[in-house]
Amino acid sequence: MKILCTMGTRPEAIKMAPVILALKKEPWAEVRVLATAQHRDLLDQVNQFFGIEPDIDLDIMRPNQALTTLTARLLLELDTVLEKESPDVVLVQGDTTTVMSVTLACFYRGIPVGHVEAGLRTWDMQNPFPEEANRVITGELARWHFAPTEGSRQNLLKEGVPDAGIVVTGNTVIDALLMSASKDLQLGIEIDPDKRLVLVTSHRRENFGEPFRRICLALQTLAQQNPDVQFLYPVHPNPNVKEVAHEFLAMLPNFTLCEPLDYAPFIAAMKRAHIILTDSGGVQEEAPALGKPVLVLRDETERPEAVEQGVVKLVGPNYKTIVQEAQRLLDDEDAYRAMARGISPYGDGQAARRIVETLRQDFA
Ligand code: UD1
Ligand code: UDP
Repeated sequence: MKILCTMGTRPEAIKMAPVILALKKEPWAEVRVLATAQHRDLLDQVNQFFGIEPDIDLDIMRPNQALTTLTARLLLELDTVLEKESPDVVLVQGDTTTVMSVTLACFYRGIPVGHVEAGLRTWDMQNPFPEEANRVITGELARWHFAPTEGSRQNLLKEGVPDAGIVVTGNTVIDALLMSASKDLQLGIEIDPDKRLVLVTSHRRENFGEPFRRICLALQTLAQQNPDVQFLYPVHPNPNVKEVAHEFLAMLPNFTLCEPLDYAPFIAAMKRAHIILTDSGGVQEEAPALGKPVLVLRDETERPEAVEQGVVKLVGPNYKTIVQEAQRLLDDEDAYRAMARGISPYGDGQAARRIVETLRQDFA
């Protein structure tokens, strides 16, 4: 049974790693790894961390590449790989352009696809853009839907996906996080041990332009209002993010802007953080498991479970709400404690095992 595991960006590499490592232990599975390298440096550091070496690398990243160009180049290159490799099954993870393109290329060749992290929905095609569309297309075409939560299973049923194709597995992001516990996690950046740390990440396309400027202005105000608090922002390399973040924040004495952190130092940063402000999907899943309150810099989320449990709050790209809610968490002990409860609605660390077991039952 030849299984082609695919990945393009940092989060896909992190969340696919537990599946690849689990499949490699199975005698019935011949595992091949394809990196589209939609991300280059961000992807490579994750694979190094998990000891994974892609068998095929499309090296597709170009500076500030438009979505249309990226998709067109991916489809052409992927078709050649699928013809040559002729896999029995292809696995994709998440909602990126790589995921949608791999799924479509497989559909054209009649190759069945297993979708890891299936069924996440906001029901708004523009938020997040283009990820909601990528998930819907992938959900329509995939054969196996590995849903992280019961809520995501319900979303798929609502869209008419047959129940028999859906398995609730938990999210492999928690498997990856637990696997990292045995590794050396050093932040590698000097943070005053007496200061509380606010960790920030932001990169969503729908926030580019005015919304992202509002986010940065709110961060600027928070840093000025709280000179005794240290802020750390590993800035995403997308030029639309990088330039604005530096314009608003680089001059502040208690604001450290750095290059994206490798996975291990980033986990160390999350552990060290007092609160986390982010628009990242993966961080919304990891931080609650580490007991860290999260303010999400978006109006909507496809990960409602932690919001419902009160450990994640949506603050949008809204200046006033970001400043108000972050300040409340910094000033009000009770409000802080209510959100810092170590709840993990996204998995128990066994998601990869459940995915492998499903494939084994169907194929071995
Ligand atoms: C992509 C995904 C998004 C995911 C995010 C994770 C799409 C459309 N977007 O967004 O869903 O949440 O990855 O981080 O699939 N760049 C580098 N080095 C890198 C990576 C990126 O320089 O290692 C720069 C390049 O200029 C690149 C740009 O960032 O063209 C944008 O990369 P792209 O993958 O198109 O979008 P992201 O914003 O990273
Ligand atoms: N991450 C990282 N270094 C960073 C920021 C994030 O290793 O500087 C990790 C984080 O732990 C999470 C994943 O990257 O597992 C999330 O990726 P990202 O925010 O880029 O994408 P999203 O999850 O929003 O698709």
